[in-house]
Amino acid sequence: MDQLKRQAAARALDEVRDGMKLGLGTGSTAKHFVELLGERVRAGLNVIGVPTSESTRTDAERCGIRLTTLDEVDRLDLTVDGADEIDPALNLIKGGGGALLREKIVATASDRMIVIADDSKWVDALGRFPLPVEVIPFGLAATQRAIGRAFAQSGVSGQMVVRKGKDGHVFVTDGGHWIVDAHLGRIEDAPRLAGLLSAIPGVVEHGLFIGIASIAVLAGAHGIRVVEQR
Ligand code: A5P
Repeated sequence: MDQLKRQAAARALDEVRDGMKLGLGTGSTAKHFVELLGERVRAGLNVIGVPTSESTRTDAERCGIRLTTLDEVDRLDLTVDGADEIDPALNLIKGGGGALLREKIVATASDRMIVIADDSKWVDALGRFPLPVEVIPFGLAATQRAIGRAFAQSGVSGQMVVRKGKDGHVFVTDGGHWIVDAHLGRIEDAPRLAGLLSAIPGVVEHGLFIGIASIAVLAGAHGIRVVEQR
């Protein structure tokens, strides 16, 4: 599996050109991309990156990749990031690693987003992977009730669980928020659900990436498949 992730990352590297401003994703697949990019940088490639998490910042610095922020650059040329699920419209569930907020800010500030994954992430419909919803701790119960109403309006239901870290304490995102993971099973109308969730005051962001990815690079046992958004 790790080999497949690395193959997808290597294929995405083909899209990188000298002088590009890059969004650097988070997670085990994106980490391969950062490592491979670091090799190219050490061989003379001139790029600058915006990391989507503190963990990616650490990795990128270790790899010698020059970093900047979205305050210092205008648009990014390309973001390369992983995903938890990818559907045929290239809508995604992201946030399994908890970095969805910065990932979405960086991806939408980019001209193109390439999503890289092993092909187990490809699904007919999103939702088997629990949907991460990043929330403000204040008023959590009220926010969860509003999220439940949004689910009902878009025809889904399921248990909501406040994410805990490996230490057993509530998981806190880089932005200081919490994550509610919603076990929905199958989301028939992801764009509608995305809109409803975005309208809830206590929701900072959610893991549905609708119309953001332009290309998916999927590595499987029989090679690499590149799917472009139609
Ligand atoms: C991080 O918050 C996520 O959005 C990751 O991009 C996603 O969970 C994919 O991670 P892996 O590449 O580790 O599967």
